[in-house]
Amino acid sequence: MAPSTSSALTLHINGEKYTLPVDHRTTLLDALREHLDLTGTKKGCDQGQCGACTVLLDGRRALSCLQLAVAAEGREVTTIEGVADGDRLHPVQQAFLDLDGYQCGYCTPGQICSALAVIEEHAAGWPSAVTEDVRPEAAAPALTAEEIRERMSGNLCRCGAYTSIVQAVARAAEHAADETKEPVA
Ligand code: FES
Ligand code: FES
Repeated sequence: MAPSTSSALTLHINGEKYTLPVDHRTTLLDALREHLDLTGTKKGCDQGQCGACTVLLDGRRALSCLQLAVAAEGREVTTIEGVADGDRLHPVQQAFLDLDGYQCGYCTPGQICSALAVIEEHAAGWPSAVTEDVRPEAAAPALTAEEIRERMSGNLCRCGAYTSIVQAVARAAEHAADETKEPVA
């Protein structure tokens, strides 16, 4: 008898636990969309080129079309459905809304998931390919438009809403920085 290519898989997504039978060859993207009806994560190219399928895996960006669902077992998956706090939008979502960081909206869930990670990566002092001074003792780079464009470059927008997307990420990053400031006594 041929070995089974399916098994029960337990995934932790947006704070919930899901157990589902899946073929081992199922991508995380297809598990989310086709098995769990979490269709906020979009399928664009299905080959790692567009960023539409971006989710967070243990807080880091991941292309769910390139990730097997079985490889996500035991990790915390965050999709766009888990970003808001109930009815209250996350500041990154609010910034995209306020600054029109989208047109058709198809790339937006991936853009927002990427932006969440970009803001954390920058706050942690990670350099990017356009950071001029990458010496360990150098000051963290300012999150300029150039830095945002580079750090978000894995997320394509066929509508070309890039100018507004950059502004939205900048505003959300400012908001996150304000939140971490010590209140003046
Ligand atoms: S659908 Fe995954 S990168 Fe395009
Ligand atoms: S808003 Fe349409 S693809 Fe980005």
